[in-house]
Amino acid sequence: MKRYLIFCLIIVVLVGILVSFREDPLNKVELGRMLFFDPILSRNKTISCASCHLPEFAFSDTNATSLGIDGRKGNRNTPSAMNISLHNSFFWDGRANSLEEQALGPIANPSEMDLPVKEAVLRLQTDRTYNNYFEIVFNSKPSATNLGEAIAAYERSLETSNSPFDNWKFSEDDQAVSEAVKRGFALFNGKGKCIKCHFGSDLTQNEFRNIGLFNGMELNDSGRVKISGKMEDIGKFKTPGLRNIAMTAPYMHNGIFKSLKEVIDFYDDPEKVIPNSINRDSALAKPLGLTEKEKADIEAFMISLTDKRFVMEKGMQSYRLQGFPYNSRRLY
Ligand code: HEC
Ligand code: HEC
Repeated sequence: MKRYLIFCLIIVVLVGILVSFREDPLNKVELGRMLFFDPILSRNKTISCASCHLPEFAFSDTNATSLGIDGRKGNRNTPSAMNISLHNSFFWDGRANSLEEQALGPIANPSEMDLPVKEAVLRLQTDRTYNNYFEIVFNSKPSATNLGEAIAAYERSLETSNSPFDNWKFSEDDQAVSEAVKRGFALFNGKGKCIKCHFGSDLTQNEFRNIGLFNGMELNDSGRVKISGKMEDIGKFKTPGLRNIAMTAPYMHNGIFKSLKEVIDFYDDPEKVIPNSINRDSALAKPLGLTEKEKADIEAFMISLTDKRFVMEKGMQSYRLQGFPYNSRRLY
């Protein structure tokens, strides 16, 4: 009897240890994270969402326009997938209305992952691990709906408000930023007129605006008009948020500007950089007349919006995003 009890006890302890080592995702966010980093969602299993949305570049990449499956060139720049939980439309032209809907777009897009959503779902259903995980999290088999739900939940977790700017503005730590940043913020709100479009907690309110990057010739992406059908929307794009903006070069829907400096030079005199654009916003009708020092101050302000978890390690050329648990647990 005693032996039997000891045997039972050992079994219980062993099971306990096994359970504690089990690395199953426990919730939607964890499952979404696995899917985000898993090439299983592309036709030939070579790319994942994270191939273009890289953590170290604030979930964007360094190409002017994106590179998809088999090196296929997309025609737009990869935006950051961080700090988008408050957005109400997605993509540069706002063609998706929810993150759930958005997440399925790149899977099926022929120049991105090129896998019909139906097939993606079938793949997950026939994969024992995923089938199991979806049962645990959703109490049902993988479907287009819960696939979108899991990825969207992960994306909503990618919020960053731990920047020097936040410390200065919201924690009232006067030492958190330099004088240049403070001057830059004042210029952003005043002479630079940036605040007319970039406002709110992530410095965007998701409005569609035309800043003058469409001329119907070599700059031929007409943006929002293709979705809304309204001529007044010609050349308009979604105003992007500016959190971690220093991490996401190159800039704009077409990746036309390589640095923040180039962006500020453009805003200073749009007509000089891109003459004869069509339907440019009236807020950008006249040159701003910024001095070089003022331009540098605005740049310093934008750099202060970088979350502190982006760190440059010793001897490294590029930043890393620390403390974000973003590695897929599944090894191929
Ligand atoms: C081949 C590169 C590539 C891959 C792979 C990719 N994306 Fe994207 N992503 C882009 C590009 C380019 C855009 C902008 C497209 C547009 O506006 O037309 C975008 C836009 C987005 C946006 C909209 C952000 C905003 O501010 O509106 C989100 C969110 C996003 N992608 C998430 C994902 C998810 C989730 C996956 C995987 C299922 C994924 N992406 C796969 C390149 C990629
Ligand atoms: C009339 C509205 C408007 C004004 C004013 C404005 N912006 Fe923008 N901003 C936009 C829009 C819209 C885009 C995206 C345009 C595109 O890709 O075609 C953008 C893009 C950007 C980008 C690139 C974002 C990215 O992810 O690629 C930066 C940086 C930026 N703006 C900073 C500024 C600064 C600094 C000022 C002031 C000097 C300013 N903006 C003034 C609407 C505006």
